[in-house]
Amino acid sequence: MTDSIEYDLLIVGSGLAGLRAAIAAAKKSSKIKIAVISKVQVMRSHSVSAEGGTAAVLFEEEGDTIESHIYDTIKGSDFLADQDVAERLCREIPNEIYQLEHWGMPWSRREDGRIGQRMFGGYSYARATYASDKVGFFEMQTLYDTCQKFDNIEFLNEWFATSIVHDGQRFLGITAIELSSGTFYSIKGKALIIAAGGAGRIYSYSTYGLSSTPDGIDMAYRAGMALKDMEFVQFHPTGILPSGILITEGARGEGAYLLNNENERFMKRYAASKMELAPRDIVSRAIMTEINEGRGFDNETGVKCMKLDLRHLGDSLIKEKLGAIREISLKFSGIDPAQEPLEIRPVCHYMMGGIHTNIDGATELQGVWAAGEAACNSVHGSNRLGANSTSECILWGKITGELAVDYITNNQHMTPFPHHLVDAEETRIYDGIFRGHGDANPYEVRQELTDTLNEKAYVYRNESDMVAGLKKIRELKNKTWKHVDDKDKEYNTNFTNVMELDSMFRVAEVVLIGAIHRKESRGSHARTDFPKRDDTNFLHHTLAYYDPTEPIMKKHPVTITNYKPVERKY
Ligand code: FUM
Repeated sequence: MTDSIEYDLLIVGSGLAGLRAAIAAAKKSSKIKIAVISKVQVMRSHSVSAEGGTAAVLFEEEGDTIESHIYDTIKGSDFLADQDVAERLCREIPNEIYQLEHWGMPWSRREDGRIGQRMFGGYSYARATYASDKVGFFEMQTLYDTCQKFDNIEFLNEWFATSIVHDGQRFLGITAIELSSGTFYSIKGKALIIAAGGAGRIYSYSTYGLSSTPDGIDMAYRAGMALKDMEFVQFHPTGILPSGILITEGARGEGAYLLNNENERFMKRYAASKMELAPRDIVSRAIMTEINEGRGFDNETGVKCMKLDLRHLGDSLIKEKLGAIREISLKFSGIDPAQEPLEIRPVCHYMMGGIHTNIDGATELQGVWAAGEAACNSVHGSNRLGANSTSECILWGKITGELAVDYITNNQHMTPFPHHLVDAEETRIYDGIFRGHGDANPYEVRQELTDTLNEKAYVYRNESDMVAGLKKIRELKNKTWKHVDDKDKEYNTNFTNVMELDSMFRVAEVVLIGAIHRKESRGSHARTDFPKRDDTNFLHHTLAYYDPTEPIMKKHPVTITNYKPVERKY
């Protein structure tokens, strides 16, 4: 008999979106019981790694405008953003910046004492609101502290959610494993918010924490919800070698240069007006073009790279405004950025795609919302501007938290809980994975899978590479890796690794198939065999529905309000 517990609202994921949702729900109703379920401890959620800023217009009296933030976001998206969603983000996020301030967020300040903002790529105005270069850490701490004020928020830390339970129409609960005991649970609930983050660890060279695997996204996919626009993977221009840890765009926002092996600020040839502060897709392509044309450097690992030069910023500015990346450079590459340029290369940093939602974060299953990077409400289209992600997490955390409470209040159904589905899930996990047999080493298979994505669907893509990549991951998927050698119950990381890998295969397949189908170049999706954007045939979103054989692909319209797609120039 499976252990069973019950709450009103379940939130899977304890990053910025999950915590903001919990606070919004708890503020709206002290009567509902909320559980935040996370496979890690709260302050180990990947949101703590956000460095550079949260975008918002704060100083209209000094010349910035909401209209300009909206247009920068839509242009940055290469016109695939749903424009009503971009408008909502830009109009509503300023209040959230002040709300965080009231909850204790230690924003950096300008000389005049007002909240500090810095330039980021693709913007017309300095609107990345910052707290040194540890923005995510401080935002998380602020939200986590605020959660402590509410008696009706409970944290189930180190619980691995495995599946969604529903009756074909509406949400009824989830299944999860308590990692400390290895106990399998059904958790009944009236509403669910999936805020489990992105899937960037399907790439081996990645800024993401090792836990950023697609379990949350895959849970929705297996339950019949569409994944949207998964072919759009963001490569941040500056991952430090050899680890791939993020060197914030804030460095370039403060004035750092990108240099090739001719000591040239090569961005003048790719985006003469914005230079290093062009949107990420453009800077990443410029770096790869320089490397491909022989103007790169050789890192000691043999990997080609470019240099990021901060020396002219000076030691004291670096310590004050870029302290985290200074520490990262010193610890992980042995370089002091005030003394020597850093060796960097584009690195997998963000998925524009995710669980298909509408403007309110509602998914296709009644009672389920998605927020933050796990969701695709289409605010970023095919290329996100830096600092718009923490904004999205915070705003749609709030929106979905409030809407979930309304839903719970208005839908007090007494639907019988389908215990047979929980039994089927237990069989899938324990017979299909835990007690499986095989000779392939799952850790090696995971490495091969992530290396394949890196090699075959990186900054520049083409049909033959991606078809070969898809063939390779299908071969890997058919190997006998679904087995767990360690049979202990408590904290069995061998088990969680194989469960994560299980979700990585399904989601990697959707990324590759979406990318093969999209025969154009748009935003982060740059095809050498189809180098132009093609609005006639591809100005639409991609939807992928789960099928055990292969994903069923569909199209979904883009919402255009006021901004006609035009060629993007910077
Ligand atoms: O470069 C950065 O600090 C990253 C910010 C972001 O992805 O929004």
